[in-house]
Amino acid sequence: KTPVIIDCDPGIDDVMMLLLALRHESIDVKLITTSAGNQTQDKVVDNALRFVSYIGEEVEIARGLDKPMLRDLVIADHIHGETGIGGVELPDPDFEVSDRTAIEAMVSVLNEASEPITIVATGPLTNVGALLLAHPEVKPKIKQIVLMGGAARGGNVTPKAEFNMFVDPEAAEIVMQSGVPVVKCGLDVTHQAYLDQMDLRLLKVSGTELSETLYEMLAFYKDAQATSPFLEPYHAEVVRLHDLCAIAYVIDPSLFKGDDYFVTVESSGAYTTGATVVDHLRTLGEEPNAHVLHSVDRKRFVELFYSVLEE
Ligand code: BDR
Ligand code: CA
Repeated sequence: KTPVIIDCDPGIDDVMMLLLALRHESIDVKLITTSAGNQTQDKVVDNALRFVSYIGEEVEIARGLDKPMLRDLVIADHIHGETGIGGVELPDPDFEVSDRTAIEAMVSVLNEASEPITIVATGPLTNVGALLLAHPEVKPKIKQIVLMGGAARGGNVTPKAEFNMFVDPEAAEIVMQSGVPVVKCGLDVTHQAYLDQMDLRLLKVSGTELSETLYEMLAFYKDAQATSPFLEPYHAEVVRLHDLCAIAYVIDPSLFKGDDYFVTVESSGAYTTGATVVDHLRTLGEEPNAHVLHSVDRKRFVELFYSVLEE
């Protein structure tokens, strides 16, 4: 089993990622930490506790930082709703949030592990950036950081910036330049990682309580994406599961294709704050610091996700 720490901001696609991570036989989730992003820290930590309980799992969930390193928090309630998980109401959780902070818990889990751990990050990188800044000694204990964020080409909150990078570009840049191996699932690949109408119908007719709950969340997400002024029209037909790419890569990297590039995150651009500059021309003279994914076998990706729905 691959040991992982998950840092996320649930978030509808984060929830799908948690389900696959917690249910897949090849993954051992050691810790979940929450990142303020899609909603406030209070709401994302509550969503994580409720959802993990709802699917019958229990794992330490530690509360992360309340706001980005240097900026005010920007949330994505227009996409994930007032609660952060669409209109779905999940029952009260069966267990409580950890009494350790996200950073304390990450440091101790990394130090106690018998092998290097993969960090899967699917929200703004505030917690992971703070960890690397405050505790550089844990870097050798991190096998790699597989993150959802950025875009080689267009963004989704500004013409150039993707949401997770836009919210905390300073933290993202610390992660990118940390020297820890990074795998980057940006919009270039996550826009190919979608459920189409047929996939959604399959979920709807499968008739389990879980599939109904997921369908309800995804229907909300799809409508929100479809009415977003930032997204191309064909978005209306599909629902993109950005965050699921990060855990799918850890489970089966052969689903994806990518290349190694130097990547830097813009934090002071007049129009480009939060843009990930991917040196695809290799003209910046820097060594590659990230494996940047650019395509996914969509059919196998969806099969992998649906393989954990029946348990
Ligand atoms: C990312 O932003 C969030 O809204 C999603 O959960 C995903 O992590 C996509 O840009
Ligand atoms: Ca997310």
